[in-house]
Amino acid sequence: MRMIDIIEKKRDGKSLNKEEIDFFIKGYTNGDIPDYQASSLAMAIFFQDMNEEERAHLTMAMVNSGDVIDLSDIEGIKVDKHSTGGVGDTTTLVLAPLVASVGVPVAKMSGRGLGHTGGTIDKLESAKGFHVELTEDEFIKLVNENQVAVMGQSGNLTPADKKLYALRDVTGTVNSIPLIASSIMSKKIAAGADAIVLDVKTGSGAFMKTLEDAEALAHAMVSIGNNVGRNTMAIISDMSQPLGNTIGNGLELKEAIETLQGHGPDDLTELVLTLGSQMVVLAKKADNLKDARELLEAAIQSGKALDKFKTFISNQGGDVSIIERPDSLEDAKYKIEYTAQKDGFISEMVANEIGVASMMLGAGRQTKEDIIDLSVGIVLNKKVGDKVNAGESILTIHSNKENVNDIFDKLNESIKIDSEGYTPTLIHKIITE
Ligand code: URA
Ligand code: CA
Repeated sequence: MRMIDIIEKKRDGKSLNKEEIDFFIKGYTNGDIPDYQASSLAMAIFFQDMNEEERAHLTMAMVNSGDVIDLSDIEGIKVDKHSTGGVGDTTTLVLAPLVASVGVPVAKMSGRGLGHTGGTIDKLESAKGFHVELTEDEFIKLVNENQVAVMGQSGNLTPADKKLYALRDVTGTVNSIPLIASSIMSKKIAAGADAIVLDVKTGSGAFMKTLEDAEALAHAMVSIGNNVGRNTMAIISDMSQPLGNTIGNGLELKEAIETLQGHGPDDLTELVLTLGSQMVVLAKKADNLKDARELLEAAIQSGKALDKFKTFISNQGGDVSIIERPDSLEDAKYKIEYTAQKDGFISEMVANEIGVASMMLGAGRQTKEDIIDLSVGIVLNKKVGDKVNAGESILTIHSNKENVNDIFDKLNESIKIDSEGYTPTLIHKIITE
C-alpha cells in the first residue's frame, strides 16, 4: 500500500476502507509517513469529507494507536461526559458526585490543561489536600466503593491524535467535522468509556460558533459512538455568555457545592440535570430521561448528592470543612465591582472575552508551566437579559492585584447594555440518536 494512492483516492472524492485508514494512522504515528503527506490527506478530507464508516474506522485506528484504559474491573456501565469547552463551565464538578449518588460509576481521568481557568483537577484542589495521585488499583477500588474518583491522566493515550491535531493546527485543517469528531471520540474511548454524553457548545465562547455547525458536529459524534459500540447522546447548549455565575477555580468549587445543595444558578442547574439524565439513562439506572431527572432531583433534595461529594473529596485527601462552610475557601485580597454606566438590560457578555479577563487575573494557564491562582476570578451579579441601573454592579472581580485597569478595558469591550432585554436559550437541542 502507498500513501500517495490513499491521498489521491480521497482527493478524488472516493471513500477509504479500513485497511487504508489503518495504514495511514499506523504509518503516521510511527514516523514512516511524513508530515507533508499527512497534511495533504487532512486537506483532502477537509474538502471531500468522510462517510460514517470512514469516520468510525478513523476513530478506532486512533484509539488503537496507543494505550487503552481498561476499566472492566469497575462494576456497571462507565459513562463519560465530554464538553467541547466553554467559560465558567462548572458542570463536571457537579455532575460527577450527582450521578454517582444514583449509582452511575464515574471513573474520571482528567488533565490540567490550558485555558481561562484550570481544569477539573485544579478546581478540586481548592479543597486543601485533595490529590489525584492514585495507583490504578486504588482508583478502581474507590470507584467500586464510592462510585466516583478522579485520577490524573496516565499512559500514552491516542498518540496518533496528538500528532495529527498538532499538524492540523498549522495546516488549516482543524475545522473539519470528520477530523474533530474522530479526535474527540477517540480520546474518550481510549480513556475507557462504555458510553458517552456530549455537551456541544455553541456561541461566541465556543469552538463551534453557529448552531448549524454545532449540530453537525454533535450528529457526527453520536453516529461514531453508536457505530463503534458506545451508546452516545448529545446536547447543544449555549456558550454565548459564561455558564453559571462564577469563573475561577475556588469560586467554581463553591458554586458546585451550592448547586449540589439545590441553590445553584438556574442555568448551571438545568444543564447539569439535562446532561445527568442522559448519563443515568446510558448507565441503565433509569428507563427514560424523565425518570432519570426525577432521580437526580431527589438526590439533590435529600442531600445524597452532597454527601457523595463529601466522601469523594475526603477519599482523595481533601479538607471537607469547605463543604459545610464554603465561605472558608481562601479569598482573593481585593474585591472590585464592575458597574453599569447606564440603565438598561444586559445584551451581551462575550463569554471568551470574560474568560480571558479571568485568565489575566491568574485563574488560568497560558503555558503548561504557569502556576494558577486558585482564589481569583469573576462573579457575575447580572447575566444577559437582566435589568441594570447605572452604578449597579454587573460583576465582582476577585483579584490579588490592586490595579485591574487592564481587566476593566477587557470587560468594557465585552459587556453591552441595551434598551431591550432578551434571554438566550440555554439548551438548543437534545440528540439521543
Ligand atoms: N478538540 C479536539 O479534541 N480535537 C479537535 O480536533 C478539535 C477540538
Ligand atoms: Ca460557572
